[in-house]
Amino acid sequence: MTQKNIDRYAVIGNPISHSKSPLIHAEFAKLTRQTLSYTAELVEPGQVKNFITAFANDNGKGLNITVPFKLDAYELASDLTDRAKRAGAVNTLTLKDNKIFGDTTDGTGLLNDLIKNHQQIIKNKHVLILGAGGAVRGVLEPLLLENPASLVIANRTVSKAQQLTDDFSSFGNISACGFNELDNRKFDIIINGTSASLSGDLPPLPDNLFSEHACAYDMMYAKQATVFMQWAKQQGAEIILDGLGMLVEQAAESFYIWRGVRPETRTVIDMLKMQL
Ligand code: ATR
Repeated sequence: MTQKNIDRYAVIGNPISHSKSPLIHAEFAKLTRQTLSYTAELVEPGQVKNFITAFANDNGKGLNITVPFKLDAYELASDLTDRAKRAGAVNTLTLKDNKIFGDTTDGTGLLNDLIKNHQQIIKNKHVLILGAGGAVRGVLEPLLLENPASLVIANRTVSKAQQLTDDFSSFGNISACGFNELDNRKFDIIINGTSASLSGDLPPLPDNLFSEHACAYDMMYAKQATVFMQWAKQQGAEIILDGLGMLVEQAAESFYIWRGVRPETRTVIDMLKMQL
């Protein structure tokens, strides 16, 4: 195959230079012996549609979408999977037969990291999720499909948590509250889906939220433990995880959608950890 005919993939965002996706997909391609190229592309706001058209015409087969274009991708997709419709966002586009197929792999990424990589069982557990933004909406369906005993969404703006509860109540036992309503409650798994970590903030949480042998999961990751992870340690959580595994697992799910092969992820997660 000449370079010219290689299947092209890319992640689009703005900014984009920090993206680890090219590295992750290059490793996946090596591990699965696939020939493809995967680049990071800076796209200007308002130019997403033009970019996708030009990319598809230049052997582009698939795109990952990151901030701030997940909603653009949702609107531009000609076909959406049910899970993308319910998540209200798209992070994976497949360009095929002059169509744009939209899907979301964030939820599967989180679940695969929790269950496959860290042997967490969600069934019959009490789960608390902090935050009610796009990141949380994207993971609710697969979390509820694991049949937790309860799933509580706590958010600074309670009405947003309530909206999510209304939208996903048919999938399981889900309820909403504010951070100040968590006193005297216990959870087996607490997931931080707020963007507070990004600015070094922690939602105002009461003490003693973790039950015995509990797991804390931050959907963010950083070089050092995030403030949420530090808090979880002080509060006695037994297993404390960051979102690096989720990042790699959501990429693996995208790769599977495009190439029909599921790459092994362990070595890629370890490699990224070393690089942080
Ligand atoms: P994302 O796509 O990362 O989910 P988002 O849709 O802007 O981004 O949502 C950010 C989430 O983090 C929201 O739940 C937000 O709370 P509000 O809905 O009340 O705005 C939450 N968040 C951001 N900064 C926070 C902070 N300092 N403390 C608590 N919650 C915070």
